[in-house]
Amino acid sequence: MKVIVVKSNQDLAEKAYEHIVAVMESKKEVTLGLATGGSPVGIYELFRKNKPRSAHVTTINLDEYIGLAPTHEQSYRQFMNKQLFETVEFKETFVPNGTATDLQKACDDYEEIVAKHPIDLQLLGIGQNGHIAFNEPGTSFTSKTHVVQLTSSTINANSRYFEKEEDVPTTAITMGIGTILKAKEILLIASGKNKAEAIKQMLEGDVTEACPASILREHPNVTIILDEEAASLCGSLKDRQTV
Ligand code: PGA
Repeated sequence: MKVIVVKSNQDLAEKAYEHIVAVMESKKEVTLGLATGGSPVGIYELFRKNKPRSAHVTTINLDEYIGLAPTHEQSYRQFMNKQLFETVEFKETFVPNGTATDLQKACDDYEEIVAKHPIDLQLLGIGQNGHIAFNEPGTSFTSKTHVVQLTSSTINANSRYFEKEEDVPTTAITMGIGTILKAKEILLIASGKNKAEAIKQMLEGDVTEACPASILREHPNVTIILDEEAASLCGSLKDRQTV
C-alpha cells in the first residue's frame, strides 16, 4: 500500500487525476470504477477542464440511492452526468439502478457487468465511519453487490446535499466489498479533519469488518492520497514528507 500525503485538497485532486489518466493511457480498453460524493469533485473538475482521451474507457460507479430516479437531482446517476459524463465522453457508463422493481436482480445484473468489465482502477472515497462505497461497518469482506440500510452517520453526512435530513434515502444499492477488492488497482482519496479518525482506523487499527476500509491493507495494489488534515491523526505518517 502506497500512502501519499499532499498539502491541500487541490493538490490531492491533481495527483489523483494524473494517476487516473496514466491508467487510462496505459491500455487500448480500460475500465474505471468511479465514485460520487465530495471527495472526487476536484478530480472531475480537472477531467472537464482537460478532457483527456476517453472514448476507449468504460466506467462503473459504486453505488446509487434506492428510490431516486436517474433524473432526480440528488441521484448518483445525475451527479455523474453533471460532474463528468455530459462533458467527457466515455465508451459506456454504468450506475446501479435504484428504481428497479426487482432490486435483487438489479444487484445480480450489476455483478455481471463488473465481471464482464474487470475494473482496472477503482476510485474510492471513505466515510467518516470507515465505509467504502455504501458498505457500512459490519459488512462482510466477501460481499457482492447488495442492498444496504444506510447508517445514521452516513445519512447525516449526506444530508448536506438535501433540503432536510428526512429527504435522504435510507437504503441504497452498493457494490460489495468483495466486488471492490476484485479491482486490479484501488485509489482511495480523503481530505479534511472529519476523515482523520477513519484514516487512522484504516491504516493503524485492526483489519476488521468494523472498519470496512481496513481490508484495503490486504489488497496488492492500493494507493491512498490524503491531505494533511486527513493524515493528521496517523502517528505512522508523522515523518512522511508532504508532497
Ligand atoms: P465524501 O463521501 O466524498 O462526500 O466525503 C465519501 C464517502 O462517504 O464514501
